[in-house]
Amino acid sequence: MAKKKSNDKMSVKGRNKHPKTDLPVSKHKSKSKEKHKHIIELRDVWKIYQMGDVEVPALKGININIHEGEFVAIMGPSGSGKSTAMNMVGCLDIPTKGDIYLDSKNIAQMTESELAQIRGQKIGFIFQQFNLITTLTALENVMLPMVFQDKPREERVERAKVLLEMVNLGDRINHKPTELSGGQQQRVAIARSLANDPEVILADEPTGNLDTNTGTNVMEFLCKLNNKESKTIVMVTHDEEVAEFAERIEILRDGEIVQSKKGKNHDAACNKDKGGRRR
Ligand SMILES: Nc1ncnc2c1ncn2[C@@H]1O[C@H](COP(=O)(O)OP(=O)(O)OP(=O)(O)O)[C@@H](O)[C@H]1O
Ligand SMILES: [Mg+2]
Repeated sequence: MAKKKSNDKMSVKGRNKHPKTDLPVSKHKSKSKEKHKHIIELRDVWKIYQMGDVEVPALKGININIHEGEFVAIMGPSGSGKSTAMNMVGCLDIPTKGDIYLDSKNIAQMTESELAQIRGQKIGFIFQQFNLITTLTALENVMLPMVFQDKPREERVERAKVLLEMVNLGDRINHKPTELSGGQQQRVAIARSLANDPEVILADEPTGNLDTNTGTNVMEFLCKLNNKESKTIVMVTHDEEVAEFAERIEILRDGEIVQSKKGKNHDAACNKDKGGRRR
């Protein structure tokens, strides 16, 4: 695993810089003290797609509790319901049956605009295809989610720079996505997911389009966010090695959770410079 030799680029002059770490991105650290608080709960969640006369049950009554500051992987073969589950966790879709609680609020009782607002504030998304806007620079891509939260331009520029420096792309801020490597594009996407300082990062196959080394590097960044910034991370992957970086792995098969286990590489990869664990 390629480890960065120096943290120079991670040490930036951001206003929110945390005194004990070199990561300047979050205001949510203190929340990790609230042990065992669930930030996301899925209770008996069903998703049944209607295809003409045929019902396709993509999720069959899944239950998942995700604690604040936890790093959970949802793993399973193609078609097992991972993306459907992720869409539920991210409040991008509503279940056919069952309840989803985000920060103890039942999302079924929210209006579409309340849902969009809560998503924008609490959740950052990372996708397999990066989903960057090709006509915008790295800086502009990272600034974009802040526009929807009405942040002044100066603040947007400042924070986007801090976040890009955090993912070691301080010297690439004016590059467009096509002028960046796959790993660099995914790091821009990680920076963008942090724009509004969300409590939860959802990543659907974040390493799916990357070679092994670059994928490992991206996983190290996710570990760092979990470890140093106490971000809750929920990641979907079909790759067992990638899943092993998570604290807990939930295995989906045919729309059901069939196993829950500990990630083997989590402690070594994600807690290596942590003084003590939160839970
Ligand atoms: N919009 C839809 N309409 C109908 N069926 C759907 C829809 N989306 C997904 N499905 C079906 O639901 C099941 C689960 O799909 P999902 O995309 O969640 O799988 P996945 O585990 O993410 O797979 P992959 O690893 O290939 O991305 C599949 O059988 C799929 O065909
Ligand atoms: Mg999928």
